[in-house]
Amino acid sequence: MPGFPIDVHLGEHGLLDSIADDVRRGLSASQKFLLPKFFYDEAGSNLFEQITDLPEYYPTRTELGILNDISADLMKRVAPHDLVELGSGSSTKTRGLLDIGYRMVLARYIPFDVSRTIVENACEDLQRRYPNLALHGVIGDFERHLGLIPRAEGRRLVLFIGSTIGNLEPPERLSLLTGIRKLLSPGDFLLLGMDMVKDSAVLEAAYNDAAGVTAAFNLNMLNVINNALQADFNVEEFRHRAHYNHELDRIEMHLYARSDQSVHITDLDMTVKVDKGESIWTESSHKFTQETATSMIQEAGMSLDTWYTDPLHYYGLALITTS
Ligand code: AVJ
Repeated sequence: MPGFPIDVHLGEHGLLDSIADDVRRGLSASQKFLLPKFFYDEAGSNLFEQITDLPEYYPTRTELGILNDISADLMKRVAPHDLVELGSGSSTKTRGLLDIGYRMVLARYIPFDVSRTIVENACEDLQRRYPNLALHGVIGDFERHLGLIPRAEGRRLVLFIGSTIGNLEPPERLSLLTGIRKLLSPGDFLLLGMDMVKDSAVLEAAYNDAAGVTAAFNLNMLNVINNALQADFNVEEFRHRAHYNHELDRIEMHLYARSDQSVHITDLDMTVKVDKGESIWTESSHKFTQETATSMIQEAGMSLDTWYTDPLHYYGLALITTS
């Protein structure tokens, strides 16, 4: 069985290798914060998988529904030779597109993700399913390693789905989209998945689920910091809460201290005081309208070709071109 190359641009601990500076900066700020990319150790990735099955958490199943509805038309319209997926994970949502593309002109799939084992497992499975599809895995951070993706060998479709774009603040979002634009030649496309602005009760329920899985996911970030930097956060003394910020169109997730806390972070040689009721901000999840999505796309020097959504307009997939 022929193998497949996997280019590795991250160390053994993935994104956690460069965690120290970010944690020092975040816990020294007046509104303390940690970054959403720290959620995803093994336990966190499993908790996120569980979130996607929650009745309140509509984004994953809504996006998959749209993808399944549009995949035949999309693949006919774009007819890509080269499919690049940023944040590919286990590539499960991509199966529909691959099935159709494989019967057309799709020649290569390039999954790009932070986790080597997840990409390796996905590629092994894909190789069995699509023996004539070239696979080329890239392990990296999409904020640093986009330039190391293999050159396109024909018309390219870049996928950035899952509404990961929503985690970025506007300046970082712009530089990421500008970086993605550099992966595209005229005639190439980007498919970008975004969660949409909607009734804030629906949004808040999706991030404060009744079973408490999102709470466990948020609190797990403290375990991640404890393990990565030899810290002693007392996880039981924090409480999860997510709220919708109407001015900035985003869900904000926080961890609130139930009592005064003094946390020692051995690897940073740092002690952090968190007062009772004070919060550590762990995630923003920005929500879009077709209008705000269109201006974001234009700001990055690209244009909206087609806007796909579900009947309730809960979720949007933008097919984007370079010019
Ligand atoms: C993986 C970034 C799309 O923002 O909805 C789920 C992460 N956080 N529940 C999101 C998440 C809390 C998720 N994204």
